Amino acid sequence: MARRKKIYEGKAKILYEGPEPGTLVQYFKDDATAFNAEKKATIEGKGVLNNRLSEFFMTGLASIGVPTHFIKRLNMREQLIRQVEIIPLEVIVRNFAAGSMAKRLGLEEGTPLPRPIIEFSYKDDALGDPLVPEEYIIAFGWASQQDLDDIVALALRVNDFMSGVMHGVGIKLVDFKIEIGRIWEGDYMRLIVADEISPDSCRLWDIETGAHLDKDVFRRDLGSLTDAYTEVAKRLGVMPTNVTHTGAKPKLIN
Ligand code: TMP
Repeated sequence: MARRKKIYEGKAKILYEGPEPGTLVQYFKDDATAFNAEKKATIEGKGVLNNRLSEFFMTGLASIGVPTHFIKRLNMREQLIRQVEIIPLEVIVRNFAAGSMAKRLGLEEGTPLPRPIIEFSYKDDALGDPLVPEEYIIAFGWASQQDLDDIVALALRVNDFMSGVMHGVGIKLVDFKIEIGRIWEGDYMRLIVADEISPDSCRLWDIETGAHLDKDVFRRDLGSLTDAYTEVAKRLGVMPTNVTHTGAKPKLIN
């Protein structure tokens, strides 16, 4: 197939021009990075799993009325999405202390939080995505107060949906990150969930064993990332039908 024009390449995904104006094709790579790309690896099959899982979560969100950029999955690694103007924020929702919050506050990982806590990081790799207060966001014009109110409402709906879905398959949603995009419908601007929702951007712990089923497996060298993501996909009934492994014998995924 003739290659489409590349619009943007990030650490884990590539965006290509879509078939119609206002659409893009989002391609999921097998690349994994951590600590602002200080640690890198190629993890065979990760892109295929994340494409499926992001489709699953975004479709579920749409079914409860949360707007997302997802239109349809095109193939193993690509999905058609709406083109948005990404708000340059990582919107992080936490239900239990972990990761950078646990470190910052000296809390034991897994400590339940009194309520979901939302925080924002400014999306800038060169700066290491620094945590920013709402005041910065408004003062620098990345989003208005009204946008932030809408973003918080969206993030909490995503949290409730994701927590419930994961709980149903024996997984605790510890925290996650989403990104929000703007779309225009005539003069009217709307905020929708964009980017991806996958084990790359969530902390998912097995409720019984506490096992990590997310990118911490890679960040912390805890074992096979593909096995962890496959476990999540299996429990959710979202299995790729045919993962193609490069340079290796065909491998059945059951
Ligand atoms: P943190 O505890 O490292 O701040 O991460 C909080 C959540 O955000 C966790 O679910 C992982 C996710 N995350 C990303 O998706 N991208 C990132 O660049 C970082 C730092 C975290």
